[in-house]
Order: sequence, then structure tokens, then C-alpha cells
Amino acid sequence: MNKEQDVIKMLESYNQNHIINLLKNLDEVKKQELLEQIEKIDFHQIMELYDNTKKEIEIKESKIEPISYLDKAKLSQEQKEKFDKLGEEILRNGKYAVVTMAGGQGTRLGHTGPKGTFKLDVYGKGKYLFEILKENLEEANKKYYTTIPWYIMTSKENNSATVEFLEKNNYFGYPKEAVTIFTQSELPLVDFDGKLLISKDMKIKEASDGNGGTYSSLRASGCLSDMKDKGIKWIFIGGVDNALLKMADVTLLGMAIDKNVQIASKSVVKANPHEKVGVFCKMNNHPKVIEYAELPESMAEEVDDDGELKYGESHIMCNLYTIEAIEKASKEPLMYHSAVKKNSYIDENGKEIIPEEPNSYKFESFIFDAFEFFDDIAILRGKREDDFAPVKNKDGVDSPKTAKELYEKYWNRQEKNN
Ligand code: UD1
Repeated sequence: MNKEQDVIKMLESYNQNHIINLLKNLDEVKKQELLEQIEKIDFHQIMELYDNTKKEIEIKESKIEPISYLDKAKLSQEQKEKFDKLGEEILRNGKYAVVTMAGGQGTRLGHTGPKGTFKLDVYGKGKYLFEILKENLEEANKKYYTTIPWYIMTSKENNSATVEFLEKNNYFGYPKEAVTIFTQSELPLVDFDGKLLISKDMKIKEASDGNGGTYSSLRASGCLSDMKDKGIKWIFIGGVDNALLKMADVTLLGMAIDKNVQIASKSVVKANPHEKVGVFCKMNNHPKVIEYAELPESMAEEVDDDGELKYGESHIMCNLYTIEAIEKASKEPLMYHSAVKKNSYIDENGKEIIPEEPNSYKFESFIFDAFEFFDDIAILRGKREDDFAPVKNKDGVDSPKTAKELYEKYWNRQEKNN
């Protein structure tokens, strides 16, 4: 049997006859391209993910407890100095790297183009999100006499636009040789009947597979071995859309070293029970984040004896890892979550359909699902006004307007204190 017949048999077994029809109607070049793509797709995995969408998410049988943390504002001077010294040593010795996850689509923000290219209207002139991140790194570089290697993860969709933007802006003055851009992986989109969507270029339509892909993409892209060559010991991984993200907090780093843990994270107190943030907890004695979309209402609203939310430590995507932890996470498969999305596709007659209602599943792994691979995590509670100004929605909460206010207030406070 030749390759094409094998593929057809396989597609039949997964009930993907529309792809067989497509193959039959393509010219030789396009057909070969599609066959090549099909060979790289794990249909068994995709169908398993599709079947899982029909099952209930189970967190019932697990032992769930609140997470313990230290409050940065309540550390003794002695404790803070100890942590800062430990953290500073890593930075000063060039053993620290930063990864920015910038592969997301930013649909909620309504910005066309990569989210990092969004200009936040601060101080009249405005600053791009990438520029704000760069300034934070630069500040650390000056303070600790170092140049932090900066790895930026894009998606196949937004990679060229990101590279073009950063080149055009000369990386906002960050040393170009310290910046590495790598691309995350993708997974096919599946309609509600389990059929893989077809894209305009007559291929199977794929989309970024969530920020949990960061670990394996760091390895596959060679960034992880590059970090090893550079003697990096600690790696920060953060998002692109928090205008107050602190990417080199020596207190957090020192706390992790002092606690002898492999992972650490900064949290802030949840603004209200239904804020759209993941929350930390311990599940079966391992650290875990339960994402907002999956948090049962009862848990979201549960309070302790002091009237504080029991699950109130928010995950603000301010995460730290030893290089060994990244290596481990890059080799272990993460679970996938499914999201219902609107996606255009080419139908059986070759016509493009732009749906008005959600029509398909997107499968995504989440960065924090790797926390469960570890026994412990160091959580440092920061302050919302210092650490968290998310730019998520066009208007209302977590919008450019709220982020601008938080950003300007923070920097005005800093100026006054200096
Ligand atoms: C995310 C967190 C949530 C946290 C909140 C804080 C996840 C899954 N959820 O929610 O726990 O409380 O931020 O603001 O992380 N990204 C990629 N590739 C992808 C998808 C996303 O690089 O395939 C990047 C985005 O560019 C962004 C970050 O991951 O920097 C967060 O992505 P998003 O999907 O917007 O997460 P939220 O729903 O905001």
C-alpha cells in the first residue's frame, strides 16, 4: 500500500471523510502538502481530546486545600534582606533568564496584531506592551549589572508580525543579541461533530495549543540548551499583558532558593470571588492552579474564619523555575483543556463559512498545569497596585483604561519615593 492509501485508511477510521474528499480534489502539489501535514498530526490524541469534551471535569475526588504563602509586605526586614541577597547573587552572576509568552491571540482586546504590539495610552505618548516589558528588564539589568537573556515565544500565526515589529522598533533598545524569538506548537481545531476544520489554504486548520506548550517549545526550539550553555539556573516565565509585571523580583527568587523549591510564583489577593483569574490551591498535596472557567462556584466563594477568600491567591502569570524544573516540565505531557470558539472554515463545497456562533473546539494546555509535577511551590503574595495591571478586555475591567490608571499611579508613587 502506498502512503496515500495508508492515510486514507487512517482518516476513515477517525471518521474524517471530508479530508479524504479534499485530498481527492487537490492538485498534486497541494495534495503532497496536505499529506505531509496529516503525517504530523496525532489523530488518536485529537480524537481523545474531542471525546473528553463530552465528559464532566472531575475535581471531586481530590483533596483540595488552600495554599500557603508569604506576604511580601509582612516579611521581617531580616527575612527580606536574606531573600534579596540570595536572589541578587543569581542575577549578578548572569544565571537568570526571562521568557515572555506572546503567542496568544488577544481576541478579547479587539487588537489586530500581536498583543505585545498594543500601545497603552500612558503619559500622553503611550507605550507598547513589549516596550513596557523591556523597560522592566532594563531596570533590573542596571540594578544588578547584568544583561538578562530575553526569550519571546510567538505563535505561528503572529511570529512574523512580532519579529517585524520588534525589528522596526530596534527591540526598543534592548541588546538584540540578548533576545531570542521562538515559536510555540499548534493543534487542529475540531467541530462539534469531531471533524477537523479545513482552512482557506486547503490544509487542516490549526491554532496555538495554549501557553502550556511553552515548556516543550523551549526544548524543541533549542532555547533550553542555549540557556544551559549560558549557565542559566533560574528562569522566569510571564505573560505579555500585565503592565506592572515584575520579571526580576529578587525577593521571590531568594524565597524560592531559601525554601529549596524548584518553582515559585507571585500572587495577589483576588479582587472578588468571580474575578477572571486562576487561583492557587494544593490538590492531593501538590501545588495547583484552578483556572477561573473551571472553578466551582462554591469554592470561589468559600471564606475562612477571618472572612478572607479561602482560595484567594490569584495566579498572575509571574512564575519562576529552576532549569531542572523546565527540563522536567518539557518532557511530561500536560493535560489539555477545551474551549468553545468561533472559527471560519472551508465546507465540503469549497465555500468559506464564517460562523456567527461558536462552532468548534480549541484545545489548550495551561502553563500552570505543570505545577502538579512538583512537591512544593514558594508563593509570595505581592500587591495588586504594584504587580498586576492586566490588559485583557476592550472596555470595563482589566482594560487599557484600568491598566493605564494602575501603571501611572505606580510610577507616580515610585517618583515620589525617590
Ligand atoms: C491567564 C491565566 C490565568 C491568570 C490570568 C492573569 C492561563 C491559562 N491563564 O488567563 O490563570 O489568572 O492570565 O492575567 O495562563 N499565550 C500564549 N500562547 C497561547 C495562549 C496564550 O503565548 O497559546 C499567552 C498570551 O500571549 C498571554 C498569556 O499566555 O501572555 C495568557 O493568555 P490568555 O489566554 O489571555 O490567559 P487569560 O485567560 O488571560
